[in-house]
Amino acid sequence: MKVIAINGSPHKSGNTAAALTRVTQRIEKEGIETKLVQVGHWPLRGCMACGACKKIGRCALGDDAFHGLMDEMAAADGLLFGAPVYYASIASGMKAFMDRAFYSTGARFRHKVGGSVAVLRRSGGIATFNQLNNYLSISEMFIAPSQYWTIAHGAAPGEVLEDGEGLEIMDALGANMAYLIKLIELGRGKIEEPPVLKKTRTNFIR
Ligand SMILES: Cc1cc2nc3c(=O)[nH]c(=O)nc-3n(C[C@H](O)[C@H](O)[C@H](O)COP(=O)(O)O)c2cc1C
Repeated sequence: MKVIAINGSPHKSGNTAAALTRVTQRIEKEGIETKLVQVGHWPLRGCMACGACKKIGRCALGDDAFHGLMDEMAAADGLLFGAPVYYASIASGMKAFMDRAFYSTGARFRHKVGGSVAVLRRSGGIATFNQLNNYLSISEMFIAPSQYWTIAHGAAPGEVLEDGEGLEIMDALGANMAYLIKLIELGRGKIEEPPVLKKTRTNFIR
């Protein structure tokens, strides 16, 4: 069992990395392997809406690192996403990553356990947390809960470690992600997984 954690910050050792590490430490304590991958420093451009991924099954813009990560994520049992908050929203590099990852590969993330973490100095956390969860819910991922919304505060690198409540919230997310992953693993082959149901696109209410 494995969880891939995505750090959407351009800072390798910043607050997002620290908050995600707190979650992954808890997941590992529960006996599940984790891997933290930083994408926030990649020169990512946004989705071009070219639609090529629907034909070739992968993002036309992606390089080997992007495609390799999509395969790793598709093989994992759980996915954890961490974004720094920029202008009360997902930082743009991470937004580009999320748009392209989920548009091209989201169908392969179905029924995985997911978690979202927003990291910020002061304001915009709940909006960013909700934005991250939108990718998970539309992909039929199982969003793991915590004891509060998974948002942690800090500005200077590492300052998030002074947010004691934030760290407890990360611990609870890690514990719940691990629990859900184990439950799904226990049920595999015993409880029938619901198939992908009919999905009609009406674009607007007629
Ligand atoms: C361009 C930019 C915009 C930011 N906008 C916000 C914001 O809207 N709200 C906020 O609370 N913090 C904001 N911040 C602060 C970061 O969210 C904060 O420093 C966070 O800890 C960065 O995470 P990192 O260390 O993982 O990069 C902004 C930072 C930058 C560079």
